[in-house]
Amino acid sequence: MSRTPLIAGNWKMNGTIAESEDRVASLLPRIATAEHVDVAVCVPFTALQAVVDSTRGSRLEVFAQNMHHEPSGAFTGEISAPMLTEIDVHGVVLGHSERRQLFGETDKVLQLKVPAAMDAGLTVILCVGETEDERENGDTERRLRHQVQEGLEKVPVERLGEVVVAYEPIWAIGTGQTATAEQAQDALAFVRALVADRSKEAAEHVRVLYGGSMKPDNAAELLALPDCDGGLIGGASLDVEQFVAIIDAAPR
Ligand code: PGA
Repeated sequence: MSRTPLIAGNWKMNGTIAESEDRVASLLPRIATAEHVDVAVCVPFTALQAVVDSTRGSRLEVFAQNMHHEPSGAFTGEISAPMLTEIDVHGVVLGHSERRQLFGETDKVLQLKVPAAMDAGLTVILCVGETEDERENGDTERRLRHQVQEGLEKVPVERLGEVVVAYEPIWAIGTGQTATAEQAQDALAFVRALVADRSKEAAEHVRVLYGGSMKPDNAAELLALPDCDGGLIGGASLDVEQFVAIIDAAPR
């Protein structure tokens, strides 16, 4: 089973509309022939419409970074799936560790968000990953099991293979400290095995990404791991040269 790698740049809370348009204008010509990978950018809400419009007809997919599970209602400050699909957003990142740690996002609410996004036609990147303490205490697998099982619980088995799961060890995010190839492969394979517990066929299809200080100098090793189907890239995705170098490092 060959899975097309996905290289997704998570811009986080970086970029006015003007800056975002400039960044994609530099990026688009550089990825026009990168047919060995799918490429996405995860853009702040205010710049989504502009980035969608300036990337129409290109290979670049545009993702939001969060979403509420209800289609509408009294949820001040939130954005819903129909609001994203109305402007042709392609997908959404759910459960990023910054959402979990700083904004109280729980596995319980992700259980509602993931199917709500999929029902609306959005591609989901569900983020999971352990803290440094959890790793040191030997709790990595228990944490991942909980996050993957709860997050995907309400996804019907026939649609499970469409989900993208990003394994992002929290201690590696934005720290410059990357998981070793062995640590990453073990966790990526474990995530796939958790999907296989529900459906072996879905596990063959599901794309599992690595995230956490992926940079041009470590990308080739990580992206070549047997269970690595791409990367979720934060800091390095803000620099077009670095992001393109990571895309070029994906196996062909
Ligand atoms: P980083 O962020 O590449 O800056 O570590 C990754 C992420 O948070 O998705």
